[in-house]
Amino acid sequence: MSVVIVVGAQWGDEGKGKVVDLFTERADTVVRYGGGANAGHTLVIDGKKLVTHLVPSGVCHPGKSCVLGDGMVIDPQTLLEELADCQARGLLARGELLVGLGAHVILPYHKLIDGLREDRGATKGNAIGTTRRGIGPAYEAKAGRRGVRMRDLYKRDRLRDLVRANMDELVPLIVHLGGTVPGTAEIDSWIEAAYVAGQKLAPHTGDAGRHVARAIAEGRHVLFEGAQGCLLDLDHGTYPYVTSSSTIAAGACQSAGVGPTQIDAVVGITKAYATRVGAGPFPTELHGEAGDKLRVAGGEFGSTTGRPRRCGWLDLPALRMGVRLSGMQSLALTKLDVLADLPEVAVCTAYEVDGRELDEPPIDPDDIERAKPIFTKFPGWGPLPTVTREISDLPPTAKAFVETIERMSGVQFCLISVGPDRMQTIRLHDPFEPSRQATR
Ligand code: IMP
Repeated sequence: MSVVIVVGAQWGDEGKGKVVDLFTERADTVVRYGGGANAGHTLVIDGKKLVTHLVPSGVCHPGKSCVLGDGMVIDPQTLLEELADCQARGLLARGELLVGLGAHVILPYHKLIDGLREDRGATKGNAIGTTRRGIGPAYEAKAGRRGVRMRDLYKRDRLRDLVRANMDELVPLIVHLGGTVPGTAEIDSWIEAAYVAGQKLAPHTGDAGRHVARAIAEGRHVLFEGAQGCLLDLDHGTYPYVTSSSTIAAGACQSAGVGPTQIDAVVGITKAYATRVGAGPFPTELHGEAGDKLRVAGGEFGSTTGRPRRCGWLDLPALRMGVRLSGMQSLALTKLDVLADLPEVAVCTAYEVDGRELDEPPIDPDDIERAKPIFTKFPGWGPLPTVTREISDLPPTAKAFVETIERMSGVQFCLISVGPDRMQTIRLHDPFEPSRQATR
């Protein structure tokens, strides 16, 4: 039995979809535990693209149990669309999806407020650059103990009372933000739509925490699939430019309701470079042509919003922070192939702030904005061999690049992805076999 958490080690979009898909071969149960439809995983099944926002990336392996934990915020309409899309492809057909009854529900007013705040922020120059999926407002309601949970969808009167009470409080805010206050008929249509969605989702809901606990007790392999990345963590990320949930490994325990002693391994995922969507400090960002080139080579456009991602060099101070925050024992390196055609590749090994060298980002976001990255440069290594299965198959400079990251992050790679296909992967060790991790 092994229980493994996989988390993004940067600002999200590290290529978790492919890695989780590969690890799911070994897992019986795959659990998403935080965030909501702000995430986007692009999967290719039989040549056809499937983008999931809520359903775990493990969905492509029929027969696995896919769980959405109680710490998530679920947009019922998005979930129904994904479910229909998956079932049309013969996936999730046999009751393989379980949504926690304690998960909170995203309703149209959460998205309305998210969008209004972003519009207002854009005029004042302080927008977060959220996905506008209602994530922040739904978690605010949860923390304020007035949220609507999945279990509330089945009780029409309770649902109506909750939504109306929320709207009474939110009307002044909507006015303040310059929005149009929804009328009673519109609010009633939201309530009805949520109730109908609840009826359709009812066969897929239950006690997610106990389901996962049972899987662990029965000795099954359980994979926790993180969303976003460690540097977007509400408590430890580059606040306020973060998401509203716990994205570090501890979030898996908190949100799925599993004790930390149950976890056997934590794997971080990092791209061979860095990207960020939305606002916030990004010391290694490449502007102009250099950034554009990396964006196009890596296809760095958001799978949820389509926004162009900000691109830059791999940032080891930020990666070290992710490693520390999540206690990562190994890393998966993705998109090494994207750097193949560049004449030169750089890695930021430390920051310089006011004449001091720092190996992790400073606490104050203003200091991160001022941080000067210190780079180590590598000559470009050109196209990777068609078959790249071992580290020794890599061109010498690419190998040196990989070894530098391992040495300077203090963590070994368990997997290196050299292309989107499953076959384009160097597998070094299996996180479900922790005892074998130290063999390289
Ligand atoms: P929210 O989660 O929609 O509230 O957005 C807050 C911040 O997190 C914004 O900068 C988003 O771009 C970022 N974010 C949220 N989800 C993802 C993701 O899945 N990948 C990358 N960035 C994300």
